[in-house]
Amino acid sequence: MSTTKTSHRNVRSRQSAKPAAGAPLANASALPAKHPPKAIRQAGGTVPQGNPPAGDGKSGSPPVFAPETLCIQAGYSPKVGEPRIPAIVQSTTYKYDDIDQVNRVMTLQEFGYKYTRTGNPTVTALEEKVLRLEGGAAAVATASGQAATLLSVANIVRAGDHILAASTLYGGTFTLFNATLKKFGVSATFFDPEAPAREIARLFRPETKLLFGETIGNPGLNILDFHKLAALARANGVPLVVDNTLATPLLCQPFKHGANIVIHSATKFLDGHAAAIGGVIIDGGNFDWAGGGRFPDFTEPDPTYNNVRYTGKFPKAPYLAKARAQLLRDFGGCLAPQNAFLINLGIETLHLRIPRHGENALALARFLAGHPRVAWVNHPLLSKTGRSRVATYFNQRNGGGVLTFGLKGDAGSIRRFVKRLRIAALVVHVGDLRTGILHPASSTHAQLTAEEQRACGITPDLIRVSVGLESIHDLVADFQQALE
Ligand SMILES: Cc1ncc(COP(=O)(O)O)c(C=O)c1O
Repeated sequence: MSTTKTSHRNVRSRQSAKPAAGAPLANASALPAKHPPKAIRQAGGTVPQGNPPAGDGKSGSPPVFAPETLCIQAGYSPKVGEPRIPAIVQSTTYKYDDIDQVNRVMTLQEFGYKYTRTGNPTVTALEEKVLRLEGGAAAVATASGQAATLLSVANIVRAGDHILAASTLYGGTFTLFNATLKKFGVSATFFDPEAPAREIARLFRPETKLLFGETIGNPGLNILDFHKLAALARANGVPLVVDNTLATPLLCQPFKHGANIVIHSATKFLDGHAAAIGGVIIDGGNFDWAGGGRFPDFTEPDPTYNNVRYTGKFPKAPYLAKARAQLLRDFGGCLAPQNAFLINLGIETLHLRIPRHGENALALARFLAGHPRVAWVNHPLLSKTGRSRVATYFNQRNGGGVLTFGLKGDAGSIRRFVKRLRIAALVVHVGDLRTGILHPASSTHAQLTAEEQRACGITPDLIRVSVGLESIHDLVADFQQALE
């Protein structure tokens, strides 16, 4: 597939799981074209077709760009006279001259922006950037991380189907699977991700349609054993769906380790400034939806779209094509252009923030581990298993910016400690560059029973700290005075 008519520089990520040979730095202009340029049509403007376009076939191997460069420049390459940074295209709609062309766009015969619910140039720039950082075949942004989780699953399951999920999940995801999806006839079983493979294997049923886990559990902080879970998913013919929110592609690229679908709450480290809510779903393009006849929604004609068969028309990323064309259309849940702009801005410094989050978190974890009022501390780099998983699956020796600890004493001790903090603020959030702390048992996971909380890795004394980028000396001093 050629992009020779564009002025895009051809680059790809050094760390790409499945490098898109010759994929341009950006696949779309942020400005709506009268007829969307070929690159937009190929890569995502409205319905992504699959892998980003291959090189022009003339220039040989494209240059390979590092994640730092992709964080700053991927997703958008302006042409002469266009804005240097992706413009906020604050328009819900796009003009056409010709009724027949609108018909072709609406029936997926031709690609183009039609309505911002299914595609917008500012949002495309963000989608392409995250896609380049994660590797994979195509990406779609959503209104929030929760919308990404819902759509990623709803794109696969029907009433009567079953989900297998690691028990160490963000509380909102647990509730979605355990309560809300149940009302739509989709059941879920939660497993201990550290259980032996043979035990997890016994939980698969004929109607199981996906395996779900978080790269770094929130707030269990356990790192997924990708090899084990990817092998289980493969053996049972289902996709492995991974929430990569707490790791970000800077630390871990799940497609390299066997994941098939990756999702993000972009609200967290990707945005990094607590300014915008959003989510992203990325299709690895590495799952055979047609194999075994278990996923007819991908292989059978879709009467709501001109009887398209997603595996036939979009062979490289049928999952993503269906998610955008069908689910964004029907459920809404699209990302607002303003938020895409802010999240894109946040990602421009992700490569600078992530190492510092990790350093500060480890230093604070070590300080807390030596404090007499602290019962226990959890950070991936403080445990042998965590260190080994970081070494095996992560791109940096960095256990992430979140730690948890248990405070000795009762609920009153926790209340007093939280009140005394001056820098760390009590917030329902992670991934901000300001340090935030939370008591999950009384907040994000309050709706769970004590037993469910334990399965998620939550105890009544657990305090979660999302360690920000302030001076580590000031942070340690803040915790020290609050613990006195
Ligand atoms: C791991 C994880 N996934 C998904 C979500 C949901 O994301 P959002 O708040 O953007 O809807 C969260 C929110 O905290 C999260 O921590």
